[in-house]
Amino acid sequence: MTGKVGFGIIGAGMIAELHGRTIRELDNTELIGFYDTNFEAAQKRAEEFGCRAYERFDDFLADPAIEAVTIATPSGMHGRVAIPAAKAGKHILCEKPLEITLDKVDAIIAACDENNVLLSPVFQSRFARPVQLVREAMRSGRFGRMVLASAQMRWYRQASYYSGSNWRGTWKMDGGGALMNQAIHMIDLLIYINGAPEEVFSFAGTLTHSIEVEDNLCAAVKYRNGSFGTIEVSTSCAPGFPRRLEFSGSEGTVAFEEDKITRWEFARPLPEDEEILQQLSGKANACGGSAPMNIDNSGHASQISDLANAIMTGGKPFLDGREGRRAIELITGIYESARTGKPYVFQR
Ligand SMILES: NC(=O)c1ccc[n+]([C@@H]2O[C@H](COP(=O)([O-])OP(=O)(O)OC[C@H]3O[C@@H](n4cnc5c(N)ncnc54)[C@H](O)[C@@H]3O)[C@@H](O)[C@H]2O)c1
Repeated sequence: MTGKVGFGIIGAGMIAELHGRTIRELDNTELIGFYDTNFEAAQKRAEEFGCRAYERFDDFLADPAIEAVTIATPSGMHGRVAIPAAKAGKHILCEKPLEITLDKVDAIIAACDENNVLLSPVFQSRFARPVQLVREAMRSGRFGRMVLASAQMRWYRQASYYSGSNWRGTWKMDGGGALMNQAIHMIDLLIYINGAPEEVFSFAGTLTHSIEVEDNLCAAVKYRNGSFGTIEVSTSCAPGFPRRLEFSGSEGTVAFEEDKITRWEFARPLPEDEEILQQLSGKANACGGSAPMNIDNSGHASQISDLANAIMTGGKPFLDGREGRRAIELITGIYESARTGKPYVFQR
């Protein structure tokens, strides 16, 4: 053990650049190489990062220097590369969504379990400080009885974002639109902070883009803890605005936009509240609201480093496959309701 986990990246497109940069920057990871079905794309990234490009997937998987893989292929292609990687004994960091249907998600989780490899689905927003603070406030009971938990994403994607890609905006490879691709991080946070959903009713439509999937969607959710909430998502709202999450209980309300806290009010204030507001309140910028790659890599860095630590210590990652599954369950339930025009009730 060198003190660094060797990573290979599968898929050498847009997000792979951020992964390559992050793996190279961290103390406990080392970038070994890229594999892409488009060998030129792998070569280009390998040149940029001074590492290896693999022409054949088998050669990539056979390289013992690669202990873990990052999956950065189109979403509906994650399972097709994750399962052989698990069988080859590679630990897996998989970009969101883990896969686009629950059956495919379950097949990845099973392959990782059977082959004793770790699986960590990327939800970099979970590592943000406001998210951790709200979760802690929730767990310690500061909200009182939870009543509302809502998410709003009014983002903008130009027509070229979809037309310039052979998979974005398709059911087969994107698995959905504004909800599955962009708002999935917020869906994950609603569940992470407020718990599992019980029932949902939704409307979805394609209002401003020439794509198969929805660019606008609105859902009403009932959670198992008895609270309610709305989920509004769009990629049609020029020029694009910060994502907003708001949690209200009988004794407190917290709202945040991107990584800025815009409301932090509790019936029983604590001394640290002032410091939290001083450090984390302010005006959020739109982040990914207008530009797909307008994301910093701090959340990815935390998650990749956490997985590398778990690999080196024989521990478990902070975020595992079953946690990654929960957002897909809510998203596919929301789509089912929009499709049937009926409420969707989640299985316990
Ligand atoms: N965490 C985030 O915030 C975030 C942001 C952007 C994208 N993503 C996710 O990352 C994934 C990739 O998105 P992207 O924008 O980089 O896509 P992209 O189209 O830019 O790149 C995908 C690459 O995968 C390659 N590829 C396709 N099939 C392959 C296969 N079977 N084996 C190897 N390579 C293959 C393509 O040739 C392409 O180079 C998606 O699942 C997306 O949802 C996550």
